[in-house]
Amino acid sequence: MGKKLRFITNVLCIFVYLKNSNNSIMSKEQIIQLPKIEDVRGNLSFIEENWHIPFAIKRSFWIYDVPGGEQRGGHAYRETEEFIVALSGSFDVVLDTGEEKKTYHLNRSYYGLYVPKMMWREMNNFSTNSLALVLSSTKYDESDYIRDYDQFKNLVL
Ligand code: TYD
Repeated sequence: MGKKLRFITNVLCIFVYLKNSNNSIMSKEQIIQLPKIEDVRGNLSFIEENWHIPFAIKRSFWIYDVPGGEQRGGHAYRETEEFIVALSGSFDVVLDTGEEKKTYHLNRSYYGLYVPKMMWREMNNFSTNSLALVLSSTKYDESDYIRDYDQFKNLVL
C-alpha cells in the first residue's frame, strides 16, 4: 500500500512539474500549483527545489502580524528569484516590469507565485492572521536590492 501511494505521488509530481514547466525555462512570473495530498486527517502540500520551483532554495523567510492597511516590499532584486505562498489568509502581490503592472491575489496554501529577478514588487491587502512564506534563490544581501523606483525604471527600460 505504501509503495502504491508513493507511485501515485510520484506520478502526480511529474504531472504538476510538466504542467508548471510548460516545457520551457521560467523567465516570467507565474502562479504555480503545488502538489496537494488530500487526506481525511488533513491535507499536505510540499515544495522541492529545482522541481516545483525553478531554483535552489538558499533562504526562507515569512511575513506575519501585518497590521491592517500596511504594505511590504516596494523594491526589486538584481539577481534574486522568489516563490511566495500564502500559507494562511490572503494578500495581493503587485508585480511591475517597469512597463506593466499585474496584481496576483494569493489565498491558497497549494498555490504560489514565482517572481523572477528584476521585478518591482509590492505586497498589500493582507487579511487578518495572514502568513506569507517566501522562498528565495539567494542569501540575504542588501546590495541585491533596488529600492529606488526611478533607478529600477532606468535599469529595465
Ligand atoms: P525587506 O526585504 O525590505 O522587507 P519587505 O520587502 O518585506 O518590506 O526587509 C526588511 C528588513 O529585514 C531589512 O532591514 C532587511 C531585513 N532582512 C534580513 O535581515 N534578512 C532577510 O532575509 C530579509 C528578507 C530581510
